[in-house]
Amino acid sequence: MKLAAVKGFRDIQAGEVLARRAVLEASCEVLENYGFEELELPLLEKVELFKRTVGDTSDIVEKEMYTFEDRDGSTLALRPEGTASLVRAYLAAGMARSQPEGRFYYQGAMFRRERPQKGRFRQFSQIGAEMLGRSDPAADAEAVTLVADICEAVGLREYRVELNSLGDDACRPAYRKALEAWGQERIDSLCEDCRSRLQRNPLRLLDCKVEACREAMQGAPMMVDSLCDDCESHHGRVNELLTESGVEVTANPRMVRGLDYYCRTAFEVTAAGLGSQDAVGGGGRYDGLAALLGGPDIAGVGFAFGLERMVLAAAGQEPSAPPVDIVVAPLEERALGVVLGLARRLRRAGKRVEVESPSRSLKAQMKRADRSGAACVLLVGEAELEAGKATLRDMVNKADHAQLIELDGDAEQLIKCIGEAVKGGA
Ligand code: HAM
Repeated sequence: MKLAAVKGFRDIQAGEVLARRAVLEASCEVLENYGFEELELPLLEKVELFKRTVGDTSDIVEKEMYTFEDRDGSTLALRPEGTASLVRAYLAAGMARSQPEGRFYYQGAMFRRERPQKGRFRQFSQIGAEMLGRSDPAADAEAVTLVADICEAVGLREYRVELNSLGDDACRPAYRKALEAWGQERIDSLCEDCRSRLQRNPLRLLDCKVEACREAMQGAPMMVDSLCDDCESHHGRVNELLTESGVEVTANPRMVRGLDYYCRTAFEVTAAGLGSQDAVGGGGRYDGLAALLGGPDIAGVGFAFGLERMVLAAAGQEPSAPPVDIVVAPLEERALGVVLGLARRLRRAGKRVEVESPSRSLKAQMKRADRSGAACVLLVGEAELEAGKATLRDMVNKADHAQLIELDGDAEQLIKCIGEAVKGGA
């Protein structure tokens, strides 16, 4: 049997786990300062949820979802994103009434069957946030401000927030037609994907990476120049508010996003260190989404960051495992029970303690203790058991204090005694 994980799915090693935790903790702190509360959402949903919202013609629904038929005949999908699930959960719990202006965040695994490469996996994690019940431009501006503050808190290198407006049902249909006509005139220069998208989702022609398509779309009409009055004033106000609050954004009229539920504001965050998959996060406004799920007409704006990409973009500041404070070394099998009890008391008092094995020689135990970075070792052998006191070896000042530490002392007394013996503290 092959031991490697399934293609696009990864085993995450201890160092990266720590880096992920640091990124998550920094992000959660910012989110909570903005008044967001965390919800936990299921990994499996009915496939219909994503078809209706993310869109039948999106890459995610067309070719990337992991779906299967359950034993009762229903078709389920591993969630490819969190917004649709969050809005479903919000409606299901009756929060449209109880929390008409809810602010929620979520984190966890998402699944998309994309071609794996650096920063792109089939199972990846997102941390996402949604602000429901707010249709005013201040909500969009606050979402972008929050995005920038998360980037700062996590320490993303050279991050940039790109902003666009995708219009709404009043102005986008005419724009789509104009773009389709533009593409139709240049159909011979377009790649296979763009040809098939031309009628179903012409906006995606704007962010195709194929050079010939990029050239063909040079000079094409842009959504920002075709906005209706309401969308234009909304977009203008979002930009004004961001300028006034000192958040720097870059206009990107070609950015369209890969999910169909967006209207008006759309944004993406790029950062250094990511190679060709340089979007570390993205989001926007999705006012029609709740209604698509059969709920009331509730506005929404939000975003999600990819955790793996955040870790890559924050690289250079990898946290290491917290150092060991104390090693407890049983020199006899007989000392093991006492040593485990001693270590437990010290750990419950907040010390990071490693217990050595009596099957190793004293020399080997000390070598390992030295490598652990512990400030002191508590040795318990025959004589120490007799005396009821452990010998303390001060690893900082390289000194032994024979039979000093009461084996059955309470944690507070033990820590005080260790602290006094080891200059610089344990
Ligand atoms: P998205 O742009 O599809 O938006 O994904 C957000 C982020 O997830 C991306 O910027 C990227 O960092 C990460 N990501 C996406 N696919 C992969 C992958 N295959 N491997 C690694 N990372 C990936 C959404 O999902 C929307 N739900 C965001 C949103 C929330 N819009 C409004 N509210």
